[in-house]
Amino acid sequence: MVYAHASVMVQEVMELLKPESHKKYIDGTLGGGGHTEQILALSSPDGMVLGLDWDDEAIAAAQERLRRFGDRLVTRRAAFTEVKEILKEIGWDKVDGIFLDLGLSSHHIESGERGFSFQVETRLDMRMDRRQSLDAYQVVNTFPVSELERILREYGEEPRARRVALSIDAQRRRKRVETTRDLADLVARVAGRKRGRMHPATRTFQALRIAVNRELENLTGFLEDAYELLHSKGRVVIISFHSLEDRLVKKAFRKWNQSCICPPKTILCRCGWSQKARLLTSRPLFPSQGEIWLNPRARSAKLRAAERV
Ligand SMILES: C[S@@+](CC[C@H](N)C(=O)[O-])C[C@H]1O[C@@H](n2cnc3c(N)ncnc32)[C@H](O)[C@@H]1O
Repeated sequence: MVYAHASVMVQEVMELLKPESHKKYIDGTLGGGGHTEQILALSSPDGMVLGLDWDDEAIAAAQERLRRFGDRLVTRRAAFTEVKEILKEIGWDKVDGIFLDLGLSSHHIESGERGFSFQVETRLDMRMDRRQSLDAYQVVNTFPVSELERILREYGEEPRARRVALSIDAQRRRKRVETTRDLADLVARVAGRKRGRMHPATRTFQALRIAVNRELENLTGFLEDAYELLHSKGRVVIISFHSLEDRLVKKAFRKWNQSCICPPKTILCRCGWSQKARLLTSRPLFPSQGEIWLNPRARSAKLRAAERV
């Protein structure tokens, strides 16, 4: 299988994660294994990585690419929200670094049959984990108009969310919206012609993908207590591609950095909270112009990192 994905901000990730021998790492979004390959190379001869991905094709591609590292790489087809149970199962306690590279891989977009792209006509799908039952076809054809509108507005920042939701509803009452092309044409009719270089359906497709894969809910759950998985001085590095994701990472890291989370003006601290981590990036890092030139998909990447106290 050809699994095409150019890894983003690899050098920046390695500088922050600082892989070393004898240490253990989690890559919660293994994808094609590009970042993990570097982690394993830099942590030679005995550093280890637990690589998770809920996409069967990603796991297969990474296993093939990283075969030379033998049992230094442990893989599981799983969501990163399941990491605690998996650590228990494989007998690992805490780790020295956690990495997430959120969202889609180029493989998802380029292998047309997964239904992420309106460039290829195929059934509406958009599931990264093909074991789950909810797909884009169900969202588009069965969700109430108000929920569709909310998804388009919140996750896609679609200014014509209501009009698009209403026209999806009008269409599905006549005949179900079956394919990526059906949906893209319908959105183009109500949301206008190409805006600059962006196809009018881009926002709708992004919003549906985020909803189908519960991307924000998964990230929120993970960030609640991910610091507990780290040894002292262990680091977490996260690359996000969407402003809503970046906001969640920023908010969580700021909370971890605080020594008290009582409401403002509280005289006597009662929260029982203590600082969990310190920020390694007070502002997000962005890819270099050179990287964006070589890999335009890197352009919306933002990287944040924190270190367990
Ligand atoms: C951008 S790609 C990772 C690419 C990888 N860093 C590389 O360099 O090859 C993101 C991967 O994360 C996976 N993914 C996204 N959300 C996930 C989640 N909640 N749990 C597990 N895997 C997830 C996707 O299936 C995809 O393969």
